[in-house]
Amino acid sequence: MGSPRLSLVALAVLFGSITAQAATTAEVLHFWTSGGEARAALSLKQAFEARGGVWDDAPVAGGGGDAMAAVLRARALAQVPPSVAQIKGQNIQEWAEIGSLQGLNTIAQQQNWDELLPDLLKETVQYQGNYVAVPLNIHRVDWIWANPKVLDKVGVTPPQTWDEFNEVADKIKAAGIIPLAHGGQPWQDVTLFEVVLLGIGGADFYKKVYLDLDQDALRSKTMIKVFDQMRKLSTYVDPGAPGREWNLATAMVMRGEAAMQIMGDWAKAEFLTAGLKYGEDFICVSSPSKGGYIINSDSFAMFKVSDPEQKAGQQLMASMLLDEEVQKDFNLLKGSIPARLGVSLDGFDECAMKSSEDLLLNEARNTVVGSIAHELVQSGAVRGAFLDVVTEHFNTDMSSQEAVNQLAETVILAD
Ligand code: BGC
Repeated sequence: MGSPRLSLVALAVLFGSITAQAATTAEVLHFWTSGGEARAALSLKQAFEARGGVWDDAPVAGGGGDAMAAVLRARALAQVPPSVAQIKGQNIQEWAEIGSLQGLNTIAQQQNWDELLPDLLKETVQYQGNYVAVPLNIHRVDWIWANPKVLDKVGVTPPQTWDEFNEVADKIKAAGIIPLAHGGQPWQDVTLFEVVLLGIGGADFYKKVYLDLDQDALRSKTMIKVFDQMRKLSTYVDPGAPGREWNLATAMVMRGEAAMQIMGDWAKAEFLTAGLKYGEDFICVSSPSKGGYIINSDSFAMFKVSDPEQKAGQQLMASMLLDEEVQKDFNLLKGSIPARLGVSLDGFDECAMKSSEDLLLNEARNTVVGSIAHELVQSGAVRGAFLDVVTEHFNTDMSSQEAVNQLAETVILAD
């Protein structure tokens, strides 16, 4: 046994080296605060710390990230941005355009991101051909999460079409169970909307509406059908839905209070975190459609900061996130699939496998489409127009025709 004095000296040396390493710091602003999200974020924190970094955690509660986006805007305006922020899609473009983001080309070249990343993601993390963010994952939005025990009890199977969805939901409701677990927040309403838009309109129509903001498509009979189905969905949610966080809606499915939830695969992380088993306690089915895949992807961007410790933290973070192990550990916990090409899916579950297969299939058919609810496509202003109209329609007795007119008008103004 060494003398206690020596151990103290050793401790002091060790402590000294720890504080010296603490120089590499990243303040990470993110909105991963649900049980599943927090577990996934922790895996990144641990990987960062294992590489000698100090992760200064700055979470802002609120699924979908709208609350965090407001904090980020305020901090950027006050010229005290976080060194790392969880932003994505069009947000990345908007922050890059005003010069707020640190360029990442040097690390990207060293690690050959051009080869490591699928084309689908490259566009979103580059601004004018330069890397300004690192993608973490691929989330799929068009899923139904269901409690198989509830479906069995009622004697129904997962719906393949929206008419079937309504029949199944009517039976569930008649059995005294809430058909659709939902949180009435604008981003969740638009998550439903885009899933129905793809299902009823198909991928080409979805692109005309969402990407081209095509007036004919926006004012078409198909759009009326989309809003008619949204009205149906509004009758399948419980009166407690307004304001509810998405993960509390997932918990309703877990407990069998509700039968289904339409949500991206971050919901799977909640089931897994609660120790539930695929097939027994929950199932995933792609939502009714004739093909298509709504993509969402998280990424970290580095805001320009002057503090050398934070700058070092940014370098360490950017160089770590596409590591194979890091990608695997994070995505297993997050419910998504890796952003990096070629990471083995050994150990991933049925839903992740299906996501990966369907992604390839739809990529080949050119039917992978971006989410507006999750900010992959369109500016904040256009997204805002969709959020406003869809939410107003869902929560009032506005007719489908009125919603169609209002959407077509406000979208032009916002563009
Ligand atoms: C994000 C996910 C997150 C979800 C709920 C989505 O927009 O991409 O990472 O888990 O919102 O907060």
